[in-house]
Amino acid sequence: MNEVILVIGACGQIGTELTQKLRTIYGNENVIASDIKEGNAELMSSGTFEFVDATSKESVLNIIEKHKVTQVYLMAAMLSATAEKHPIKGWDLNMNSLLIVLELAKDKYINKVFWPSSIATFGATSPKIDTPQKTIMEPLTVYGISKVSGELWCNYYHEKYGVDVRSIRYPGIISWKTKPGGGTTDYAVDIYFKAIEEKKYECFLSEDTMLPMMYMNDAINATIQLMQADESKIKQRMAYNLAAMSFTPKEVALSIKEHIPDFEITYNPDFRQAIADTWPKIIDDTEARNDWGWEHKFDLSLMTKEMLKNISENNK
Ligand code: SER
Repeated sequence: MNEVILVIGACGQIGTELTQKLRTIYGNENVIASDIKEGNAELMSSGTFEFVDATSKESVLNIIEKHKVTQVYLMAAMLSATAEKHPIKGWDLNMNSLLIVLELAKDKYINKVFWPSSIATFGATSPKIDTPQKTIMEPLTVYGISKVSGELWCNYYHEKYGVDVRSIRYPGIISWKTKPGGGTTDYAVDIYFKAIEEKKYECFLSEDTMLPMMYMNDAINATIQLMQADESKIKQRMAYNLAAMSFTPKEVALSIKEHIPDFEITYNPDFRQAIADTWPKIIDDTEARNDWGWEHKFDLSLMTKEMLKNISENNK
């Protein structure tokens, strides 16, 4: 079957690179980018772009029918720090967009859905080291509440209506093409830009705050690998734990210093510290590795090399 893919939230941090990768695999003409705002030049010029409001069923359905879409990747979301400032707006965006897409899948307008979950589904009562796939989930952020509820909805639509929806609990995602916005793990992107631009960075988390992280290339590969896996391999219809590396701000600063010896970091924790303190430090992703063969490629030192090289080349 010829797949036509709609990426909703295609101009965000993950959406931008995911759309480009999907276009190289499925053909530019078969991957429709959509968002409430335009994206970067590469994204806008390489294929079709449509304005879509993810919270309007009519808006989403229009585009699905217009392009005979078969799969949706729903990447639109309000991240943890912003959602703490706008709880109801965060809940509405994160939840309504998912329910719209799940309903359209139930009614057979589309046959497969990807929806991202997060390490934010865990809370202060979850084990922090080697956090298992199945454990206590009592998130203390609006974003986490929306993600754990979303996972339950995905599981429900699969069990009740046979909807083929697949999901990953992303760690903090680090990339250089499009910056993230409003997340608690954003420091791990900003630090590389500031290292190149100013050789110093003030971090909004304390030096020993360890969080699970992943380089964008790995996150994109995992997402597509999960979506392409044979259905018999998907044993988990909540979201899969997914891991690559865990580090603290101090450790990432040291890895930058190996390339930029006079780089300096200072610490000034703000409200995001309280969010990070409830999240896992190290995730156990054995099930993703066993069920559909997940393997990461990037560790901290390889990622630091790539980030610094790409940001410098892009700044020229
Ligand atoms: N990166 C996200 C955030 O910080 C977590 O999924 O909100």
